[in-house]
Amino acid sequence: MSTDTRTGSSTDTGKSTGDPLVHAVNVTKAFHGNEVLKGIDMDVHPGEVVCLLGPSGSGKTTFLRCINQLESIDGGRIWVDGDLMGYEDRSGTLHRLTDKRIAAQRREIGMVFQRFNLFPHLTALENIMEAPIQVKGEKKKAVRERALALLDQVGLKDKPSAYPAQLSGGQQQRIAIARALAMQPKLMLFDEPTSALDPELVGEVLRVMRQLAQDGMTMIVVTHEMGFARDVADRVVFMDGGVVVEQGPPSEVISNPQHERTRSFLRRMRQEEEAHEKALEEAAHLAGLGDEGPA
Ligand SMILES: Nc1ncnc2c1ncn2[C@@H]1O[C@H](COP(=O)(O)OP(=O)(O)OP(=O)(O)O)[C@@H](O)[C@H]1O
Ligand SMILES: [Mg+2]
Repeated sequence: MSTDTRTGSSTDTGKSTGDPLVHAVNVTKAFHGNEVLKGIDMDVHPGEVVCLLGPSGSGKTTFLRCINQLESIDGGRIWVDGDLMGYEDRSGTLHRLTDKRIAAQRREIGMVFQRFNLFPHLTALENIMEAPIQVKGEKKKAVRERALALLDQVGLKDKPSAYPAQLSGGQQQRIAIARALAMQPKLMLFDEPTSALDPELVGEVLRVMRQLAQDGMTMIVVTHEMGFARDVADRVVFMDGGVVVEQGPPSEVISNPQHERTRSFLRRMRQEEEAHEKALEEAAHLAGLGDEGPA
């Protein structure tokens, strides 16, 4: 590309380590006068996995929704792969794009939510095939092949004909990931993808996400799974009160946080994790006793 819309508009160059796939500058967003994002800057480079941490209400979901324009922003700019999201810049003034053009931008970004929202009347395979056919107008045969490969990728190649109600939460979430990937997105956004799952189903979803990261997908993941953040994230971003408090490699932010707000959040997370593990151990113990049977 010979023109770069980013240069000239600000002091930001963003060029030092190659162009970021996501380039967010001073993003602000308020709901009814309540400022929820207070100037978020964030760059995510191709292939990078960024885990977004922060207490409830800190603006994590809102920020993800702003990236793919499920929410409009009040100030700042977000580029994804060089595209200014949601707006057109005409000599420095932003004009909102038409819904159609925003939908086209959104198509390049996969999003996985806490709730999987699969179509209940479609099978697993049909759920995965739906958008590429209906939205992109792709040929059914090619989409079907891709969908079958995706089912395999998420460990569900034996479930093409299952309806969502016949699948566990973990399986449904893996279908939801496959469905997002079927659109061949440049970027995947995950908003607490495992927090609605029974604890024993969390691992299978994280495994799929870990593999996706290894395969080079660019990902922004809002999660409370500290183990995942520690192992998989290239960078951890801690948000609180609508600002980025600190960020860096997990070895720094998680193991050696510099800010008290980060420290107290991580302490709380650790306590929750411990309580969680204890509950799991107790459940396993009870199950073990049940298995013993008569001597
Ligand atoms: N559509 C909306 N209308 C009004 N207020 C909203 C809306 N969406 C979010 N908010 C408010 O914005 C703030 C940030 O919400 P957001 O959902 O982004 O937080 P979060 O960090 O994702 O929290 P959680 O960890 O609980 O998911 C909250 O105070 C929330 O109540
Ligand atoms: Mg949220």
